[in-house]
Parts: sequence; structure tokens; C-alpha cells
Amino acid sequence: MPSMYDAIIVGGGINGGSIAYSLAKRGKKVLLLEKDRLGSKSSNAAAGMLAAQAELNEDGPLFQLAKKSRAMFPLLAEEIKELSGIDIELVNKGMYKIALSEEEEHQYKQIIDIQRQTGELAEWITGEEVRRREPSLSEAITGAVYIEKDGQVSAPKLTLGFLKAAAALGVEIKEYTEVLSFHVEKGKIAGVKTNSGNFESETVIVAGGAWSQKILSEADVKLKTYPVKGECFSVLTHQPLINGTIFSHGCYLVPKKGGRLLVGATVKPNTFDQTVTVDGIGSLMEKAKKIVPSIVNAEWEKAWAGIRPQTSDSLPYLGEHPNYKGLFIATGHFRNGILLSPITGEMISNLIDGESTPIDLTAFRIDRHVRTIV
Ligand code: FAD
Ligand code: GLY
Repeated sequence: MPSMYDAIIVGGGINGGSIAYSLAKRGKKVLLLEKDRLGSKSSNAAAGMLAAQAELNEDGPLFQLAKKSRAMFPLLAEEIKELSGIDIELVNKGMYKIALSEEEEHQYKQIIDIQRQTGELAEWITGEEVRRREPSLSEAITGAVYIEKDGQVSAPKLTLGFLKAAAALGVEIKEYTEVLSFHVEKGKIAGVKTNSGNFESETVIVAGGAWSQKILSEADVKLKTYPVKGECFSVLTHQPLINGTIFSHGCYLVPKKGGRLLVGATVKPNTFDQTVTVDGIGSLMEKAKKIVPSIVNAEWEKAWAGIRPQTSDSLPYLGEHPNYKGLFIATGHFRNGILLSPITGEMISNLIDGESTPIDLTAFRIDRHVRTIV
């Protein structure tokens, strides 16, 4: 008997949502299973920066993937608005990667050279010029790389936008449904077992973020992944303190709609603990005050934490399980899962349909250093 679903997606974060949306656009019958509420984990905690150039310094497979994904946002914003009514708040006012020492200045100028060689726009501007453009910035800033194309979105809205657009195209979504193990027949995936019943499909995609390894151990595969906690806070002002995103080593400030300013983020490896700590937020506040001194007068809004999915070589896993045909994996997006979400959906759909991908995915293969348990 044919399965009810062309594909089952495990995980209702931004990557599960993007894959669901991409498959639905291809006319597939898709079921998405989320163990908690949709978009309640890392994707809800993210700052939404599309920092292909600010966060990735070197040319290589991840940089190529990130640039391609960043270019997909303008069209995606329109599609999601039309299908779901959700405005993902795409802003293209550029990003300032600021230097606070001569050493950083020297390092950033080298990065400009590398990025220009790859055809990207990146410009060094002096401290005076940065403050002319962004008058709230402090005298401690010696200069900045101005990156015109690194924009930002609302990560929670993009996550929900993907999921609601996918639902509008017919994707079935079940919350509070945890996938516990897989149903495998003769080396091929046949479905999933959950806390509320079994579901059949010859294609299953695991997009469970930092929790992917837990479920994948049921499929005899051990990925080299680990969780990395990040804490953030936000404040409110009547007049925006900054217009562009300010990115520095250890602290970034992202201006959001309605006078909100998001400040992130701490980096604490090897924990699933999502507690917001005085130490974490305190250290971020100190860094933020050095960059924008007048932040001390802003109204406190809130603080939160999320768990990033990281891998041992800092590259995501995007591909098919080496032994179980039909089981696909999309995880390990670490600090760039929002940026990489559109391309992740498209690439996984390409692989499922046996098509060639616009970018060579060899570097992201599942078996690059996987230990199969059996
Ligand atoms: P998640 O959002 O964690 O979603 C995975 C989902 O799978 C969860 O909802 C989980 O409940 C579900 N799940 C897991 N196991 C199961 C199971 N067995 N059954 C059913 N459901 C399951 N990235 C950027 O690009 N730009 C940024 O500015 C940025 N800022 C960040 C700031 C912070 C503080 C943090 C923490 C992250 C940031 N990131 C940013 C990274 C980004 O948030 C992540 O890379 C991305 O959200 C990962 O998305 P995901 O869908 O893979 O995982
Ligand atoms: N990309 C920003 C972060 O992960 O904190």
C-alpha cells in the first residue's frame, strides 16, 4: 500500500519549516512533527542576522552556501507574505563589523581583501565615518568593515512564516508529537514511531536542531554535534539608537521594529540548559555599553536563551543517511541557521528528488566523519 505521505519532517524549527515549504511548493504531501510548540527552540532565540560576510571570514563551501542563501531572501519575503500574511521584517541597511583595537583593525582589513577577491562588497570606514553614520556609537571604535549586503530579519517571524506558508500549501502539522524511533525495512526508511502513533513514508527528514543526535542514535548514526547555549536581551527606546546592525567580537546589536534593540549573544558549549543567567546578561551589557554608551538609558524589555546546533568541523550536515535510504538529515547550522534556512530547504528538496544541487554538497555529507553504531 502506498504511504500516506511523500515525506515526514522531524522538527518544527526554521529548517524543518523551510524544508516543508520547499517540498510543498513541489506539490508533495508532507507531514511535519514537532515535539513541543512550533518554533519554540533555537529559531525563536535568534537575532535574525543574515551575516554571511560578517560571521564567515573565509571563502569555502559554507561561505558559498551562505551567500547563495542570503540572495534568496527578497523573493522569499514576498512569497511568505503572500501565502501566510506574515511580514518577516527583512531589513537591508547593511552591517558594521566594528574594530575596538588595532589588532582587530588589521585582521578585518585582511578579511576585506579576501572577500573582495570573491567578488563581494566590503569597505573599510574610519571611526569618524562610522560615528557620522551612527552617532550613538562610542569613541572606542577605531573603524569598521561596512558590509552592504548583510541584512537581517525577524527570526521568529521567518520561522512561523515558513511553517504557515507550508501549511497554506497543504503541509499537515502536528505539535506535541515527539518522534521516538524510525521504522526501517531492508535498509530503507519506512516511517516514524511517535508518542502518539506511527506514520509511514519512504522519505523522512530529521531537522531537530541540537536535539537531532538524540533521535538519530535510533538510526545507528553518531554525528559529531554538540549544543551551544546563547543568551540575548532586548531594550526599548522611542528614537532608534542605531540604524544598521553593529557586529563585534562577543557582542552584536540589531535594531528591530518599534524601537526594539536586540543585544546578543553569549556562547556556552556543551549544555542544553536554557536558563538566563546574571553572568551571561551582565557580560553582554558591559560589552554593549562600550559600543553604545547611551544604551544605559533604554528601557529594559526581556532576556532569553537558545541552544545552537554545532558540529566538530563547524559545517552543517546536509544529506542522506549513509545506510538508511530515504533518511535525510539537516542539522548543525550553529550560528547561521536563519541565514542558511532558504538554501537548506531547497538543497534537501533537490536531494530528495534526485536532482543536482546548485552548490556542491560534498563538504556537508553525513558520512564525512560519521561513526555508524552497527
Ligand atoms: P531548532 O530551531 O532548534 O528547531 C528544531 C526543532 O526540532 C525544535 O523545535 C525541537 O523541539 C524539534 N525536535 C527535536 N527533536 C525532535 C523529535 N524527536 N521529535 C519532534 N520534534 C523534535 N542564526 C542566524 O542565521 N542569524 C542569527 O542572527 C542567529 N542568532 C542566534 C542567536 C542565538 C542566541 C542563538 C541561540 C542562535 C542564533 N542563530 C542565528 C542560530 C539559529 O538560531 C540556529 O542555527 C537555527 O535556529 C537552527 O534551526 P533548526 O530548525 O535547525 O533548530
Ligand atoms: N549568529 C549569532 C549567534 O549565533 O549568536
